[in-house]
Amino acid sequence: MKSRSHIVFLAVVFALSLGAGPGVATSQGTPAASPVAGSGTCLTEPIPEKDSYLIGMSQANEGEPWRQAMNDQIAAAAAEHPNLEVVFADAAQDNAQQVADVEGFLSQGIDLLIISPNEAAPLTEVVAKACAEGVPVIVLDRKVEGDQFTMWIGADNELIGEQAGAYAASWCSEQGHEPCQVGEIRGLEGSTPAQERGDGFRTGIASNTAVEITASQNADWLREAAIPVSQSMFQANPELNVLYAHNDPMAEAAIISAEGMGLDLESLLVIGIDGLPTPDGGLRSVIDGRIDVTYVYPTGGAEAIDWTVEILGGNTTLPDEVVLETIEVTSENAEAVYEQFGGQ
Ligand code: FRU
Repeated sequence: MKSRSHIVFLAVVFALSLGAGPGVATSQGTPAASPVAGSGTCLTEPIPEKDSYLIGMSQANEGEPWRQAMNDQIAAAAAEHPNLEVVFADAAQDNAQQVADVEGFLSQGIDLLIISPNEAAPLTEVVAKACAEGVPVIVLDRKVEGDQFTMWIGADNELIGEQAGAYAASWCSEQGHEPCQVGEIRGLEGSTPAQERGDGFRTGIASNTAVEITASQNADWLREAAIPVSQSMFQANPELNVLYAHNDPMAEAAIISAEGMGLDLESLLVIGIDGLPTPDGGLRSVIDGRIDVTYVYPTGGAEAIDWTVEILGGNTTLPDEVVLETIEVTSENAEAVYEQFGGQ
């Protein structure tokens, strides 16, 4: 969206090389690397062998493209295993609904729960309940509190935020902006990635004291909500240099607002996160010169089924966490990454 003199490097992050401790595997790692510690408290005995298994997948909000992609990946991976049946529930971004969905799964007698929680605190208890009833739980992407689940799978949101902040910091100094004003559009506050992406970004910009977060507002991860939020942000702060949105749909919304208000998008650095390889996803947006930089945030759907198979197969030696790789995407590598992920 603007000329930039330097070439931005491709950052493929391997979590293990970034200080992940024992009990942590990468998405590339072989399952069953290290003993259960901390979490995994709800899986002390191997699951009894059965002819078929019922998996409950509790989704926070199917209305969002990234979550639909997660469900699609789970369904596709599970289809490779004829003994797995997956039932999906959509909480439509409602914590109470998601609690009810999990309760419903438990009364249906699921053998394993996969959950991507809407918010951490309100879902902690029902996840612990599943655990206490002997149902293994894989928590995907967003976290719950404590350790009453079998394992967590997701990418490192703090690190993504930090990389986004470092990118903004170096762009600001290249452009000679002092101060360099950032507007932040945040995800749903009670969901862990919002906190982590926000905190990481603040760490990332710290190297350049000219960078200041002038405005920060919440749009709950939603494109529709981010339209009015970004409009009022631009109105109150017409001098913004950087727009950091916690996901691509909210970044797109900000671009639409800026266009509608006749702002000079060429001089605004727009940062998003998700990098879906779909026609209206973040990778296409970078290729089309709209979003300037995004970060591939893998859904973990396929990995969740890989680990489901391990758990149901009787493996109790599980990592606490499986940290997925992310990729920084700019106009330099967007086409290649789009192809890599089979973009359509
Ligand atoms: C979808 C989503 C993604 C984001 C993730 C964080 O609900 O907002 O866009 O990366 O959730 O949990």
